[in-house]
Amino acid sequence: MIKNISVIEGDGIGPEIIQQTIKVLNSVAIKYDHDFRYQNVLAGSKAIDQLGNPMPEETINNCLKSDAILFSCVGDPKHDHNPRGMRPEDGLLKLRKKMDLYCNIRPIIVFPKLNKSPIKKKLLKKVDFIIYRELTSGIYFGKKGRSENGEIAYDYCIYSKKEIERIGEMAFQAAMNRKKKVTLVDKANVLETSRLWREIIQKISLDYPNVNLDFLYIDNAAVQIIMNPEKFDIILTDNMFGDILSDESCVLTSSLGLLPSASIGKYQAMFEPIHGSYPQAKGKNIANPLGCILSASMMLEYFGMHKEKNILEAAVKNSIENKVCTQDIVNIESSYTTEEVGNYIEKYILNQ
Ligand code: IPM
Ligand code: MN
Repeated sequence: MIKNISVIEGDGIGPEIIQQTIKVLNSVAIKYDHDFRYQNVLAGSKAIDQLGNPMPEETINNCLKSDAILFSCVGDPKHDHNPRGMRPEDGLLKLRKKMDLYCNIRPIIVFPKLNKSPIKKKLLKKVDFIIYRELTSGIYFGKKGRSENGEIAYDYCIYSKKEIERIGEMAFQAAMNRKKKVTLVDKANVLETSRLWREIIQKISLDYPNVNLDFLYIDNAAVQIIMNPEKFDIILTDNMFGDILSDESCVLTSSLGLLPSASIGKYQAMFEPIHGSYPQAKGKNIANPLGCILSASMMLEYFGMHKEKNILEAAVKNSIENKVCTQDIVNIESSYTTEEVGNYIEKYILNQ
């Protein structure tokens, strides 16, 4: 199969992890006779430096035409004080909005062999949940501003019925193929948007009598994710709460560097690790490439390439079981470099 993939290697550790991911994807292509065609496009800090815009039109047009987008991470401290709309992160938000990537899927995967989580092992045994985070609306995209004297600021949180319905459907569909449970996380005791979410999600649940729906306030959910993580199957939530809960959940998995995500819209899809650009590690060959590699595996699944996805995931599992891992998930003395991890996974796939 021919697939055109727009690649945004981004900032910080981005280029290093993307290089390993493409290497691994190419081994899958060789093994299964696919033709993955990559187009590198600019975004984030590099795009600001070269074109004065964190999300150039050229990049958007290229992404619109491709079969999928592989995105690493953006962000650079030198742009932290840029005006609104001109930070590297604004580029990412603009792309999500332009492609209408409303459904962000963040699986929380616990590899039993890893023991860098500060959480008791017995709590982690049955952890297997996915966060469905709304990605193109809410407080991230509502009107923002300041009063004239700059002393008052506001960010509106707005949701429409349609925006809630479309991700709600995706979450219930996913639950049908899993443990048949959806937990809606909100702040319905305070927020009007949360009340709208509850009304609409409750209505959708009538079409899914086999799926159990429950509700948690965000403050309680933050506790339950640590105390009773095995209770969750699909967590459905808005943009901001989903952002926070997904970082929190990485504590269960040993490292933020391991977690992938898929952002799905009606016509486009983007695959990106959930971590940031980790500028302190840039160029040191120590960053964990697995979050990005596992995002590529979600891309293969999106392409309908199930065998390919399985082999890639088996390769990642094998590298972890044999402790061929970067220093965030094993002891530093016995750790491997970013490149060595990529090489190991590539070889595993080619030798199957
Ligand atoms: C994420 C990131 C982004 C977000 C930032 C970089 C804008 O934290 O994907 O979780 O807040 O959505
Ligand atoms: Mn985040």
